[in-house]
Amino acid sequence: MKISIVGGGYVGLVTGTCFAQLGHDVIIIEINAEKVRAINNGKPPIYEIGLETLLNQHAGKNLHASTGFDTIASADIVFICVGTPPKPDGSADLSYLESASSSIGTALKNNSSYCCVVVKSTVPPGTTEKIVRPCVLKTSGKTENEIGFAMNPEFLREGRAVEDFMHPDRIIIGSNDSRAGKQVALVYQGISAPVIDTGLSAAEMIKYTSNAFLATKISFSNEIGNICKHLGIDVYEVMKGVGYDPRIGSLFLNAGAGFGGSCFPKDVSALISLAKKAGENPVLLQSVLSVNEQQPHRMVALLEEKIGSISGKRIAVLGLAFKDNTDDIRDSCAIPVIRELLQNGAQISAYDPMAISNMQQIFPEIEYCPCAADALAGADGCLVMTEWPEFSRLDKEFDLMAHRIIIEGRRILACKGTDGICW
Ligand code: UGA
Repeated sequence: MKISIVGGGYVGLVTGTCFAQLGHDVIIIEINAEKVRAINNGKPPIYEIGLETLLNQHAGKNLHASTGFDTIASADIVFICVGTPPKPDGSADLSYLESASSSIGTALKNNSSYCCVVVKSTVPPGTTEKIVRPCVLKTSGKTENEIGFAMNPEFLREGRAVEDFMHPDRIIIGSNDSRAGKQVALVYQGISAPVIDTGLSAAEMIKYTSNAFLATKISFSNEIGNICKHLGIDVYEVMKGVGYDPRIGSLFLNAGAGFGGSCFPKDVSALISLAKKAGENPVLLQSVLSVNEQQPHRMVALLEEKIGSISGKRIAVLGLAFKDNTDDIRDSCAIPVIRELLQNGAQISAYDPMAISNMQQIFPEIEYCPCAADALAGADGCLVMTEWPEFSRLDKEFDLMAHRIIIEGRRILACKGTDGICW
């Protein structure tokens, strides 16, 4: 099939590249000309395991990137993968989606065959029906017999996105007309997963609910972990025992510094905003965020408990990315921790295998080191903020510290003598 992907960010690029791997002809439309050049040269502008290999195989063959929308005119299916960042009140900013819809409609004026427009961006329930559909139909001058609409949320984890795309738990296809739904199902041929057909708004809500539930599992584990810490109990032993119950499940029960990234904080906030607009008081969701916001402060408080005032002390921060296997620092728990350490007068030496250049944009004033040992040398304390597997091998490097005080925000170290935030 001829597929156009609007938006060449994490979701659009991975989705487009994986569709090319499935044998489709893919065009990624991206306004950033530098990204377009990189994609066409087979160089992903982001780090994602397995992506570069696939992009190299398909770029210039059955995958192209372009800044113009004109190629949409011959598409069988168009996926909208633009960002829906949070507005100051937490609600989703739909301006990129609106502008993409209008450009798609204008380009589809010249399409002579049926085309299906699919929203993949995370959007509030009702968006595909009430915003995308009328906008595309108006700007294209076409009828619903000529253009179909569907909502197909993504469940890709950063750092594991290619694997998640090729082996999904489920494929959700929301549509209010069966032709559009069938068109979406066709592009996934070759992928083995249950296909769940729903209405448009239900598909939109499934995405928010999935992320909110996962975030809830993490905040719940963190709250139990905070209690366990006082009681001298290892929360990881507790959650292991709890997770055997299939009604609960063993995944996403890892207590620690809290969740970050471009999805959980934003999506829970958007759901809260939606609930409030509907006249509800979403106390549980609000608590999920407040537990999460407290965890980074607990890291600093625990450090102060161990070493006293941190003013003038050298503190090593290991891990800057919001999780392992990515260079992404959006809403990383390391950010509030570094901010608080700086406010309290600490000198920071930081190390991350991938995310240093991104963190330099936010905190140019701190020292960045090429390896963990350099960051630890002479430090009075160390905070472990990201679950990078390479940290599990650290041990004698901690002997380089002036005082071997190690606070773990992620359960990743194998060595003895550490203090976990919740264990
Ligand atoms: C998340 C979801 O897992 C994906 O299914 C979804 O598609 C994606 O958001 C999205 O909406 O696009 P992602 O943000 O890439 O994916 O990362 P996760 O692996 O879910 O981790 C999020 C955060 O939770 C990280 O900071 C991680 O360290 C933290 N986490 C995760 C915990 O603190 N404890 C856990 O048990 C698991």
